[in-house]
Amino acid sequence: MLGNFVYHNPTKLYFGEGSLSYLKDELAKYGKNVLLVYGGGSVKKNGIYDKVMSALDECSKTVTEVSGVMPNPTVEKLNEGVSIAKQTPPDLILALGGGSVCDYSKALSVSVYCSDDPWEKYYIRFEEPDCKIIPVGCILTMAGTGSEMNGGAVITNHAAKLKIGHVFGDEVMPKFSVLDPTFTMTLPKYQMTAGIYDIMNHICEQYFSGDDDNTSDYISEGLMRSLIVSSRKAAADPKDYEARSNIMWTATWALNTLVSRGKSTDWMVHMLGQAVGAYTDATHGMTLAAVSLAYYRYIMPYGLKKFARFAANVWDIDTAGKTDEQLAEAGLNAMESWMKELGLVMNITELGADKDMIEGIADATLILDGGYKKLDRDEIVDILTASL
Ligand code: NZQ
Ligand code: ZN
Repeated sequence: MLGNFVYHNPTKLYFGEGSLSYLKDELAKYGKNVLLVYGGGSVKKNGIYDKVMSALDECSKTVTEVSGVMPNPTVEKLNEGVSIAKQTPPDLILALGGGSVCDYSKALSVSVYCSDDPWEKYYIRFEEPDCKIIPVGCILTMAGTGSEMNGGAVITNHAAKLKIGHVFGDEVMPKFSVLDPTFTMTLPKYQMTAGIYDIMNHICEQYFSGDDDNTSDYISEGLMRSLIVSSRKAAADPKDYEARSNIMWTATWALNTLVSRGKSTDWMVHMLGQAVGAYTDATHGMTLAAVSLAYYRYIMPYGLKKFARFAANVWDIDTAGKTDEQLAEAGLNAMESWMKELGLVMNITELGADKDMIEGIADATLILDGGYKKLDRDEIVDILTASL
């Protein structure tokens, strides 16, 4: 059964090659001052920055920049952005980059006019914004997080050894996002595959919870099947537009509030991965890959029916003569082979974690109760140890 829900997604998408041409239509809706946010310089190397600047110029915008937003953006960088934005209050924050830049822009949008300390308010007390929110638009250059069509904004605090996401509501979600798959073609393969696993895991986090028959899980299975096919094509030929466009679209639907409607969700792989990220600053998708199998093999007996269904419906494992347990194991084995085929990082040691960090990482792991088994701290330590 599907539980009751409200569904509303306010983000307007422009998808496909050349879709940046719509940027000017969007810019016309906002005032003169635009704060352009981008990362470490990839957009300058691949020429997307120049294209965006000429659209801003043609619309006679006054542009202020926040550059150097790092992967896993930090609270210090957020505070720096607040100071820059206060000097020339923006009418629009334009994010140009991957999930880190989009997340950062959303965090900034609720921090510039915040009378409290944004980290304490949004990331420790999980309060909702009660100040003026600056509208955000995104031009996405990396497929993975779904940040282009959701309210998520993950910020890292290295001093506190915490990496925390706040999922804000409709008013913080991007007003528009430009999704041109050709913009993702310059991604290094490591980032492309990390993004692919991030997508897969977003779907798994929402799929591996509950056993009701609901449409959301069938949509998830379709998305996973599409991702598996496209990921193999993109790994063989990263310039394959068909594959890259399917991956980009799957990423958006994997985490734009759709496939969680009317059902419970898990999110423990993300809690483990984020804690690993707080200690190692590793690439998000790789932190998920490195802890996933230890986690899923541990919880499998508690959600056996769903893991068996995953094997049959996502990985096409032949059900004949197999028990649910055999099927479930075969499904996870198939996922493991696919992950290795893509070249994902399969353990946290390779990401810079060691056994002396396990207790700290366990302390930094938020424990959620939507999955098939609510873990206790000892179980988290066991899963992290098995991930070394
Ligand atoms: O900084 P630049 O130079 O742009 O380089 C970036 C960065 O080094 C590079 N890159 C991006 N597009 C490129 C490119 N390089 C060449 N060509 C391009 N077209 O890729 C690197 C990684 O970028 P980043 O934005 O960090 O990756 P991603 O999109 O995976 O975002 C990761 C962040 O999003 C958060 C993660 O925790 C992490 O902080 N997440 C956000 C979520 C959300 N909003 O719902 C959910 C996710 O689960 C995730 O937690
Ligand atoms: Zn993720």
